[in-house]
Amino acid sequence: MQSESEQIDMGRALHVAVIMDGNGRWAARRGLPRTAGHRAGLAAARRIVERASDAGIRCLTLYAFSSDNWRRPAPEIETIFWLLRAFLRLETRRLRERGARLEVIGRRDRLPAVVLRIIEKTEAETAFGHGLHLRVAIDYSSRDAIARAAGCVSSAEPSVSWQTMRSLLLRALAGESGEVDLLIRTGGEKRLSDFLLWESAYAELYFTDRMWPDFGAADFDAALDAFRRRERRFGAVPHSLRLVQGGAR
Ligand code: IPE
Ligand code: IPE
Ligand code: MG
Repeated sequence: MQSESEQIDMGRALHVAVIMDGNGRWAARRGLPRTAGHRAGLAAARRIVERASDAGIRCLTLYAFSSDNWRRPAPEIETIFWLLRAFLRLETRRLRERGARLEVIGRRDRLPAVVLRIIEKTEAETAFGHGLHLRVAIDYSSRDAIARAAGCVSSAEPSVSWQTMRSLLLRALAGESGEVDLLIRTGGEKRLSDFLLWESAYAELYFTDRMWPDFGAADFDAALDAFRRRERRFGAVPHSLRLVQGGAR
């Protein structure tokens, strides 16, 4: 049994990413409109942010709205954005109290102006947090992000080696959040849906049938426990792992 401080130490270095899926099915099973599922999903997001912060997770990236989610009916999209605004408004003070820093990733040019304003306000007000780095992906497409980063890197550095290109790309895509260690998807589907494709090259994948609104602190801890039991090899064989971690990566 690990002590609380050992648990925090283990979480400290981790980047955990979550595909928060299953809101609509959660609602349908209860005879409720899909929007009720999104509302319940917001409460789940607040719980998990709190748990991740307590567990000492370094970076938590939550997939809130994909660029392909624009294909949904307009009233559902409006509710999702209304809830995102509520989340940011409600969370700002709590994030500050916890020393957490919020960053939104994804395209900003298609967001409603009111949403953009609250994003900028929350980012500014939490900018100096040294605890959890919370990233919320809104209007996000990993393929778009990779294409954009590749365009920027190749115009700034037209003739670099592949190796340099790889590290420049990682820096352009992930910044200080770095590669994903653990990627959780709720809702039973086993796919990435255009989320953090480059950054998850060696992520441990954890799929659960639990619908996102039902996902709680104990489920998050179970995912972390499963992660800790996995052996990450990064292409090496087990006995040479220490050597590889000390050098090549
Ligand atoms: C995830 O839940 C939330 C968003 C994509 C915004 P869904 O709305 O995809 O729920 P299901 O997958 O239809 O149950
Ligand atoms: C992925 O879920 C996007 C978010 C959770 C925000 P989707 O429900 O949109 O993914 P698909 O359509 O099942 O792949
Ligand atoms: Mg879904």
